[in-house]
Amino acid sequence: MNHLIAPSILAADFANLQRDVEMINNSKADWIHVDIMDGMFVPNISFGFPVVKAIKTHAQKPLDVHLMIVDPDRYLKAFADAGAASITVHYEACPHLHRTVQAIKELGCRASVAINPHTTVDLLKDIIADLDMVLVMSVNPGFGGQKFIEHTYTKIKEAKALAEAANPELYIEVDGGVDAYNAAKLISAGANVLVAGNSVFSAADQPTAIAQLKQA
Ligand code: DX5
Ligand code: ZN
Repeated sequence: MNHLIAPSILAADFANLQRDVEMINNSKADWIHVDIMDGMFVPNISFGFPVVKAIKTHAQKPLDVHLMIVDPDRYLKAFADAGAASITVHYEACPHLHRTVQAIKELGCRASVAINPHTTVDLLKDIIADLDMVLVMSVNPGFGGQKFIEHTYTKIKEAKALAEAANPELYIEVDGGVDAYNAAKLISAGANVLVAGNSVFSAADQPTAIAQLKQA
């Protein structure tokens, strides 16, 4: 599978969201990564439904919605209605993860589970066959622009091994501190979706930054 690029809109200029979504539309990006933070599961608050709907109005690429929120079951339908193509919930936020995953699928969205840096990949063993995607966090969630955690390579290899045994079509997404320097190594470890916030939006030439990640 060729790897996909999902620029994270969290690093966009919120006063020029339409412009930045159109930049993604006209780039080699595959998805638009949309980070939802509630100030509870993570220390930061990002944005909610009106902003997701506004992004959706202009987006020509699927919205990859990453929920960093407690009790995400309450809002799955609202995010599906707002235009999510995939919905990622955190392992650490879902005591009834199997039920949550089925609910995402019933809404017609791709179902994905994220694991924080301290959460071991093995904990996904009994759910991996039900998933469309696993998101391996390569920073502690909550903020863009953080330093990539090197142990992530090992976790991606572990996720890849689990996927080969139980779910060969699985997307393995990596999120946090991804840039043109670590992209190739992440892909050889087994990642096939790269999220990138600051490395795209702080570049002088954003479409070229996306193209470089796509070529990695
Ligand atoms: C972090 C978010 C990431 C963030 C990535 O909590 O989940 O998606 O936007 O930003 P960078 O690429 O700048 O680390
Ligand atoms: Zn994210």
